[in-house]
Amino acid sequence: MKQDRGAWRSKLGFILAAAGSAVGLGNLWKFPYLTYKFGGGEHGHGAGGFVIIYLMAVLLLGLPVMIAEVMIGRRGRLNPVGSFRALRPGTAWKYAGLLGVITGFLILSYYAVVAGWTIEYIAKSVTWEYADYDAHVSDQAVRDRVFSELSVAPAGALFLKEHGLIRDTADASAVQAAWARVKTDKKYANLLKQAKKEFFLAFKTRFRTQRALKHAIIEKKMEIYPASLFERFLKNPVKQVGYFFLFMLLTMLVVIGGVSGGIERWNKVLMPLLLLMLFTLVGRVFTLDGGVRAMRFLFYPDFSRVTFNTVLWAVGQAFFSLSLGMGALLTYGSYLPKDAKISKASLAIVSLDTLVALAAAFVIFGSIFTFGLTMHGSGIGNLFTAVPGIFLHMPGGRFLSILFYSLVAFAALTSTVSLMEVAAAYLIDEHDMSRKRAVLIAGAAIFLLGVPSALSFNLLANARIFHLTFFGLVDFFSANIALPLGGILIAIFVGWVLTAREKHEEVFEFPVWLYSVWDFLVRFVAPAAILVLLFALLTGRVSG
Ligand code: TRP
Repeated sequence: MKQDRGAWRSKLGFILAAAGSAVGLGNLWKFPYLTYKFGGGEHGHGAGGFVIIYLMAVLLLGLPVMIAEVMIGRRGRLNPVGSFRALRPGTAWKYAGLLGVITGFLILSYYAVVAGWTIEYIAKSVTWEYADYDAHVSDQAVRDRVFSELSVAPAGALFLKEHGLIRDTADASAVQAAWARVKTDKKYANLLKQAKKEFFLAFKTRFRTQRALKHAIIEKKMEIYPASLFERFLKNPVKQVGYFFLFMLLTMLVVIGGVSGGIERWNKVLMPLLLLMLFTLVGRVFTLDGGVRAMRFLFYPDFSRVTFNTVLWAVGQAFFSLSLGMGALLTYGSYLPKDAKISKASLAIVSLDTLVALAAAFVIFGSIFTFGLTMHGSGIGNLFTAVPGIFLHMPGGRFLSILFYSLVAFAALTSTVSLMEVAAAYLIDEHDMSRKRAVLIAGAAIFLLGVPSALSFNLLANARIFHLTFFGLVDFFSANIALPLGGILIAIFVGWVLTAREKHEEVFEFPVWLYSVWDFLVRFVAPAAILVLLFALLTGRVSG
């Protein structure tokens, strides 16, 4: 049924679809979440170390490997397995393609769970639950919040010193360690109670009138509310599985529609709209108090925080965000005409993807620093907890919020579609299935695989493997191990197996010097960098 394969209507179609694949939750959800995590969380100094390594990984590994991956697809003109086979028949290279197909299953199985969250947040924007936060947050929650704020402020250090728990109020790590003890050790239960009381009293005396105090409490509730809404949502297994199912259905519908009909058309309109929306928000955040702090948080490097682990996650994220290392862009490349310039298209995709990631992180941190939001412990929800704060303080916020989460959902959809397309193309080409049958089978399998991920925040929250939830494990394995491994194989194949003539035909647009630079990166730099990381991983130097 080879006629079921598609083709792009135009060169722009490829760029748009590949950009649609690349730009997704990796940029809007995962990049901000990882910068938060590697920047030291709420009280961290800066994520610059992670961000700079990420940018280097994108430029030195991501861009050259992207060109290599698209090249394999355009020469092979098939799905990942078929393309490797077509280029070097009778060798084991086809298994590199198979690894990609499997990785795609894994990624989609948890990615669509997060994608499902966007649907809930479209609904939350429609009903605009944020407006009556006052009624939903208890006074106790405000007290706890005041406590957690003051305990890390000078007042907290002073309190510890007065009670003989630290000597030097300027020693931040001693303060941190002391509070950790006070909060967990039963011995200090009374002290903890006393601290909470004192801190709330200190908070209250800051306000001269009853009205000012009431206002301040309401403001605190507004900070707390989005996070508590999100947490409640995560704890609801029915919603988690339900939205996940819904998003899988949507993805399957689009993929059944076929390459040019389903994917290409919508991309042209909604991708620019997403950019417009994002840059409106960037502009808005620049006028908020937290804008400057967000810049500093994102780019100020705290190299004391950088470890092998940071590098592994940064490289994994580069592959993940660019949709590299599992054959998604290879498959899209297989629909690309011979005269299209792979390098230019790749550069455009990489630039756009990076820009969107940075913009999203800036918006989210700007909001966090402006409104003093509490985030879900790991930061995993900050796309959903931080952004509503901005809309609450904007004219037309409710409408913009609906639009924003719809666009996020769409960006996620163009990514899930690309992941599903790999599985579909594989089944269509290699197992002679119709498109519909291929999608139904792949979709059902991915859904089953993803159910434990959807339950990882509720029913299965305590089922840990290597300290990770099922969701965390699949994410860690697929993004940080399988994608870099796929990337190595692609780099080695193009760098060492394809002949110079074959390569020259694909990147005919390269002047000699640029070809040499690219070839060097693909042959030596990419495999070496990724091998070092995999080695670090196998010797236990890194973790989830
Ligand atoms: N790059 C997408 C994002 O950032 C996710 C994605 C789509 C992906 N297709 C992929 C990741 C293929 C790895 C491989 O949201």
